[in-house]
Amino acid sequence: MNNTQILLEKIKNNSETVGIIGLGYVGLPLAVNFAEAGVHVIGFDKSKEKVDKINKGENYIGDIRDAVLREVVNKVNLKATTDFSQMAACDALIICVPTPLDKFRKPDMSYIESACTDIGRNMSTGTFISLESTTYPTTTENFMLPLIEESSKQNPLASPQHQTSNIKHQTSSGFSHGKDFWLAYSPERVDPGNKNFHTRNTPKVMGALTEEGYEIGEALYKKAIDNIHKVSSPRVAEMVKILENTYRLVNISLINELALLSGKMHINIWEVIEAAKTKPFGFQAFYPGPGIGGHCIPLDPFYLEHIAKQYDFDLSMIHTAGHINMRMPHYMYIKIATALNSQKKAVNGSKILFLGVAYKPDIDDSRESPALEIMDITAHKGGLVSYHDPFIPHTHTPGGRTFDAVELTEETLKNADCVVLTTNHKDFDVEFIKEHARLIVDLRNMVKEKGEKVFKL
Ligand SMILES: NC(=O)c1ccc[n+]([C@@H]2O[C@H](COP(=O)([O-])OP(=O)(O)OC[C@H]3O[C@@H](n4cnc5c(N)ncnc54)[C@H](O)[C@@H]3O)[C@@H](O)[C@H]2O)c1
Repeated sequence: MNNTQILLEKIKNNSETVGIIGLGYVGLPLAVNFAEAGVHVIGFDKSKEKVDKINKGENYIGDIRDAVLREVVNKVNLKATTDFSQMAACDALIICVPTPLDKFRKPDMSYIESACTDIGRNMSTGTFISLESTTYPTTTENFMLPLIEESSKQNPLASPQHQTSNIKHQTSSGFSHGKDFWLAYSPERVDPGNKNFHTRNTPKVMGALTEEGYEIGEALYKKAIDNIHKVSSPRVAEMVKILENTYRLVNISLINELALLSGKMHINIWEVIEAAKTKPFGFQAFYPGPGIGGHCIPLDPFYLEHIAKQYDFDLSMIHTAGHINMRMPHYMYIKIATALNSQKKAVNGSKILFLGVAYKPDIDDSRESPALEIMDITAHKGGLVSYHDPFIPHTHTPGGRTFDAVELTEETLKNADCVVLTTNHKDFDVEFIKEHARLIVDLRNMVKEKGEKVFKL
């Protein structure tokens, strides 16, 4: 039997071990899903704190039920480690590491690079490797493949090419793609906080570099995910993910721009959207807000731009969309200043309470959240900023300010000169807020009716 047949047989007999690299919002739910399906899973993370927590059955991701994590850990279907030499025991390695931007807003590929180097140095022959992190098209083929092949030359399990008589030094030809390992790209589409769609029932797109690679990937992923959609190559799958996220970026930017114009024209944008939604075809509703946030939508255009430049291509539409969104926190600050002005108050010296710093409702993730930027701008102008978020007890802003959440009480509401509704968490009791706040700036259409003390986006 060749390596492909051996691995397919193992998957069929449920005797494979899957390694998940990066146990965050994406990696941990995937690891739990595989483990729940009876697969033996090893989770790899650089963070000792996360690894220790998982091994104690302590959950830190909102979308996972505590009892489910405890059960798979107790059954020994899932264990976590910082020891990357254990990759040698894995038949498949799935990479879920971060893909942020560096300080020049360029793709920071160092996490993928580090994961690939660890894989090359430690894996065994016959390993299926899939990347799930969001990245620019061609990453799998042009960035990962050479890195893994090159670093596998230092892998003690790769066959030595030659051995010199004074034995001390061995060199190896390393592993070859298609023979010793297979590469695929399968983007994660998880929508944190979504009660209807989760890892298992969200269809998964996958493109592999070879037919055998796809066959193995499909057999494996089918254990944890109901539907796999085949595309012809990793670069198509990479573009799929970027399309999905830039589609959201462009549409959110469009509605934000129209919301700003509507505000000037005394047109209620929320009423406009409700009416447009009655069209049964050709329109999908997007809602305005203080800007885009999260680990994906604000970052992906920069990844695409990076590769587009290499093709001498200017992404003017995506550029404009990004520009509109980048300005949104500044417009939101002007809303706050205008609201305070209506009560003959200045931002400088006013107590301004922000409700919600998560980038979307009912989650504990504040990465790239526009609320944090608005807090920075407001504090910079002399506003006395505080915040409450039931999911996030402490936070720090991009400007380097740190905050502890205050409690949401009658007193904190009454005490604030202005209350800004930045995230529409379900837990927020709008009636209670309305009753006790002196002035409200509602950026999420939470207060349905207008009034003298309510300013809406
Ligand atoms: N969070 C989402 O909603 C979401 C949705 C779809 C896609 N994605 C993409 O998935 C990827 C991961 O995102 P996330 O939100 O899970 O990130 P995260 O920060 O929550 O988790 C990443 C984990 O990887 C670990 N890590 C970093 N470098 C490592 C390395 N070299 N080896 C092992 N572990 C390492 C970190 O310690 C962390 O625990 C990103 O590319 C992101 O764009 C995220």
